[in-house]
Amino acid sequence: MTVYSDSMFTNELAKYYDAMRAYRDYGKEARFADALIQKHCPGTGRVLDLCCGTGEHAIKMTEMDYQVTGIDLSKDMLAVAREKAEKSGLSIDFIHGDVNDFETSTKFRAVYCLGYTLLYMTTHQKAMDFFNAINRILEPGGIFIVDFINGWSIADTWHKDKVTYSFDDATIFLSEQATLDRKNRLKHLEFHYLIDEFNGKVKTVFAEEDLRIYFEDEVGLLLSSCGFEKIEYYGDHKLNTDIKDLPEIVIVSGLKKG
Ligand SMILES: C[S@@+](CC[C@H](N)C(=O)[O-])C[C@H]1O[C@@H](n2cnc3c(N)ncnc32)[C@H](O)[C@@H]1O
Repeated sequence: MTVYSDSMFTNELAKYYDAMRAYRDYGKEARFADALIQKHCPGTGRVLDLCCGTGEHAIKMTEMDYQVTGIDLSKDMLAVAREKAEKSGLSIDFIHGDVNDFETSTKFRAVYCLGYTLLYMTTHQKAMDFFNAINRILEPGGIFIVDFINGWSIADTWHKDKVTYSFDDATIFLSEQATLDRKNRLKHLEFHYLIDEFNGKVKTVFAEEDLRIYFEDEVGLLLSSCGFEKIEYYGDHKLNTDIKDLPEIVIVSGLKKG
């Protein structure tokens, strides 16, 4: 029997999320966020990690002495995050919720959303709702940082046909199928997982998602229209704003007007 997962971030898939993202350097990403925050808002000590997932950035930022609040829609991802923070002896406020509804009486001076979550905002309206929600929880002059995979890479290369992940307690076979919806600038991905946890039963999980094809100038314009200014573009976590060479990972920052 194949279990349908309504997202890539629930149940078994949350449990194995970190292992399947081992190719990412969360320490480097967090140091980059720290550098941007301190460049624009020196002295900031309290930050909001939007769509924090399993808490890797939140943990790294806490280790750099930030006071971090993380918010995520997936209870399963948050359970992993809380367990890791507890094991590391770190105090991090992980909140279950939708970023679009999040309200706070004390606004933040720095908010970041890393891990390409913007790609799940599949229309301009959804991206603008998201940016407006962030604007409401930022102090005037506060910084917002968001990353995504550039549209060319999403369209051309951003999927694996077949991959095997081998862990001590499981082997996961993943087969991905991708189709492009050029009109709506979407890439539709279908994921078929076979999860063998060496207990005599193999689980099969099917998940699918749409990723929006975004480009940096487009994201910058959307941010400007939602009350952000001093928009800057970075590539591949380098502190150089010259990104003519079309990096795979694009980071855009903006300051709340005010
Ligand atoms: C690609 S993962 C990124 C997780 C983490 N930031 C990282 O870099 O590994 C996207 C995360 O966004 C969360 N998410 C998606 N939409 C959300 C929303 N509207 N509000 C809160 N979390 C959301 C998902 O549950 C998932 O954990």
